[in-house]
Amino acid sequence: MSEPRKLYVRSFGCQMNVYDAQRMTDTLAKEGFVETDTAEDADLVILNTCHIREKAAEKVYSELGRLRVAQEEAGRRQMVAVAGCVAQAEGAEILKRARGVDLVVGPQSYHKLPELVADAERRGSNRRAGIVETEFPVEDKFDFLAPPSRQAIARRGPTAFVTVQEGCDKFCTFCVVPYTRGAEVSRPVAKILDEVARLADGGVREVTLIGQNVNAYHGADAGGRPAGLAELVRKVAEVPGIARVRYTTSHPRDMDDELIAAHRELPALMPYLHLPVQSGSNRILAAMNRKHDRELFFATVERVRAARPDIAFSSDFIVGFPGETDEDFADTMDLVERVGFAGAFSFKYSSRPGTPAATMEVQLPEEVKSQRIYALQALLDRQKAAFDAACRGRRFEILLEKPGRFPGQLIGRSPYLQSVVVEAPREAIGTLATVEVRAVSTKSLSGDIIGGEFFAGGAGVEPRLVGQSETVEA
Ligand code: SAH
Ligand code: SF4
Ligand code: F3S
Repeated sequence: MSEPRKLYVRSFGCQMNVYDAQRMTDTLAKEGFVETDTAEDADLVILNTCHIREKAAEKVYSELGRLRVAQEEAGRRQMVAVAGCVAQAEGAEILKRARGVDLVVGPQSYHKLPELVADAERRGSNRRAGIVETEFPVEDKFDFLAPPSRQAIARRGPTAFVTVQEGCDKFCTFCVVPYTRGAEVSRPVAKILDEVARLADGGVREVTLIGQNVNAYHGADAGGRPAGLAELVRKVAEVPGIARVRYTTSHPRDMDDELIAAHRELPALMPYLHLPVQSGSNRILAAMNRKHDRELFFATVERVRAARPDIAFSSDFIVGFPGETDEDFADTMDLVERVGFAGAFSFKYSSRPGTPAATMEVQLPEEVKSQRIYALQALLDRQKAAFDAACRGRRFEILLEKPGRFPGQLIGRSPYLQSVVVEAPREAIGTLATVEVRAVSTKSLSGDIIGGEFFAGGAGVEPRLVGQSETVEA
């Protein structure tokens, strides 16, 4: 037997890419590739790219340049693949712009990686003949991608992403996703439950169901009828071993009554909702083709809060969309003030080739975008700091995920995805602990464990037998 070949995958962009990277790794493991965490000693490097903003998309080229220099210095040849949304959007252009790329593969073709890699290997150093695979195939890649081994699941820790829906039919005028990921497709319920059961069996306690528009999920149930996200979340929460469920990313238009009821009724559904709004101006929301106004966003927040009073929200914002006036921007600031967010991502509008907004007339100067993002981020940072500060003295359950920076420390996540540093032994990883928060810093909280699955009876409790998590209010 020859030495196993080494694979290094570097992901940019969203959680979809994190999930895809794992599926690619699992699929190539069957071909004898083992994971390594440095590009330098890999035989195959996959750059799993993001096209959402110009800066993100350009990263792949600096990364490719770096790889080439490193290879030349080491006198070594590696196979290099570009995957992800830049691969889909730019295809053969990548081969023209960067030398040393053996393979360009779009997100819907990852199940073909074994044959593509073998093909690229056969072509060897004849790099001018790089392979490009960016078709949207008729078959469903999920039927062919390998599942993770038990060891891979254990290595990845007690939380996992599961893609339940991919692609987008919303066509916001600024966004490349409908083009890079294609039309919205939901996976069938049974297949998702199989995947979750497998993860739970390997020790996963928390799953985040992911999709570009996850609350538009409508996968087939056992009878072939479409099931909504609420039904899926309920079934996932029932999988033995699963203590916590999250989902992301949601569209405000698709927060239906069933999903809101699930927030009311399911303690395992974490009270933290990422609900991107992009802008607080009705004029801009319309120009973005978001298909809702600010009033609908306020009403949705109210409905969710009424169902689950301890819920907190995060969101995404874009400033400097074409034609955005000072007044429009003031509306965004006003929306933020009114809602109050526990976290948020905000971006300067980036013009993307092929999107309708790219050709809109009034593109704003960079300095206007900079001023606005600065003001918005300052406000959002203040809100986040206030939310975190209000957690001091509170008690809630955290899922212990990994070792902390210092010996004897573990890091867990609160229901609100805050990192919480506690003192606990390594054996407690993968269990839920009730923590009283003592201190709050900008990056994390810290606290004392006052009970939990591992700690209640002193000795380790078999985590899989323990029920769902609950948020305990101080
Ligand atoms: N499906 C999600 C978001 C996917 S992209 C949704 O509908 O909300 C993640 C975030 O990137 C978006 O919410 C948006 O805030 C930001 N984004 C997308 N396109 C952008 C662009 N052209 N310029 C700046 N930010 C953008
Ligand atoms: Fe992009 Fe809009 Fe679809 Fe989100 S809903 S992925 S922002 S087109
Ligand atoms: Fe980026 Fe593609 Fe995700 S463009 S944000 S990696 S869907």
